[in-house]
Amino acid sequence: MYNIAVIPGDGIGPEVVKATTTILDKIPVEFNYTYADAGDECKEKTGEPLPQETLDIARKSDAILFGAAGETAADVIVRLRRELNTYVNLRPVKSLQPDKYGDIDFMIVRENTEDLYIGDEELTDEGAIARKKITRHASERIAKYAFNYAKETGRSKVTGVHKANVLKLSDGLFKESFYKIAEEYPDIEANDFYVDATAMYLITNPLDFEVIVTTNLYGDILSDEGAGLVGGLGMIPSANIGDDNGLFEPVHGSAPDIAGQGIANPAATILSACMMLDYLGENEYARKIENILIDVIREGKDVTPDLGGNSSTQEMAEAIASRL
Ligand code: NAI
Ligand code: MG
Repeated sequence: MYNIAVIPGDGIGPEVVKATTTILDKIPVEFNYTYADAGDECKEKTGEPLPQETLDIARKSDAILFGAAGETAADVIVRLRRELNTYVNLRPVKSLQPDKYGDIDFMIVRENTEDLYIGDEELTDEGAIARKKITRHASERIAKYAFNYAKETGRSKVTGVHKANVLKLSDGLFKESFYKIAEEYPDIEANDFYVDATAMYLITNPLDFEVIVTTNLYGDILSDEGAGLVGGLGMIPSANIGDDNGLFEPVHGSAPDIAGQGIANPAATILSACMMLDYLGENEYARKIENILIDVIREGKDVTPDLGGNSSTQEMAEAIASRL
């Protein structure tokens, strides 16, 4: 039995999380869910976007399933990642419809604890200043994770992404750390690009990428771009992994433009739950759910409007659950 902290959050968060637990309830793995509050609504109710109780529940769990936060995202999800020291953010950009989007399949390995995301901002007479933190320790740690990931999954190339031509000291250190670690993996090709060029190459040459390793902010931006390559934000899951905790969440936010309509694509959250199953060692059921999800998406009948269908979030989930 696994203790899972479930944090549905705001907007479409609760909708896609419910769809996902509907599916998890159909596999013969026992989950003990503890629901916890966080996000905009929680802040309105309790004055706090991320109450201590939620943090405690998250810390004690075997894994955390998170939906989405709204405007409080920085105080909720960014803080959770930092508090739980989940220093790796894995964001697989994989086309589930190769006939439509080509055979795109690369992994973004995003550093999850520092960069501009430390939120160290201050007002000055002229305006505002934000500090960007890059450490040798975190840069080498994330590079190591990326090369190890490549080795373990049979990928042959890792691309470091930075802006070291302008941010000579901070991104310069990230790039230097990347190549230092690359030397330990002679069988894996290492190359690097500036983040602006990467933004273009992802569109012009997406098949050239296997594993991207990058800093926190660039990883955030490039993963939304990646989503755009394979059918939108409803398709990209993520895993936040540290030495003691695993937190699984779709890449998308609370999507206020479609919240409450029951039409959010649950695929990103379902795939995040598959990453959670892998993390827990339940790989067989992860593949099973993933394969059924892919079938349902390719058949195109029981899918949400963004995938060309007219099913609701919950109907799509039930179509998957019924085949388990
Ligand atoms: P968003 O990811 O919520 O939405 C961007 C676009 O993608 C919208 O048009 C939305 O309808 C669409 N979309 C997102 N998820 C979808 C799904 N599952 N199915 C179908 N369409 C989907 O990003 P946006 O609009 O920039 O931010 C909205 C709110 O979410 C903000 O308050 C922001 O702070 C928060 N946010 C929270 C995140 C988190 O909790 N991890 C991440 C990103 C944004
Ligand atoms: Mg984002």
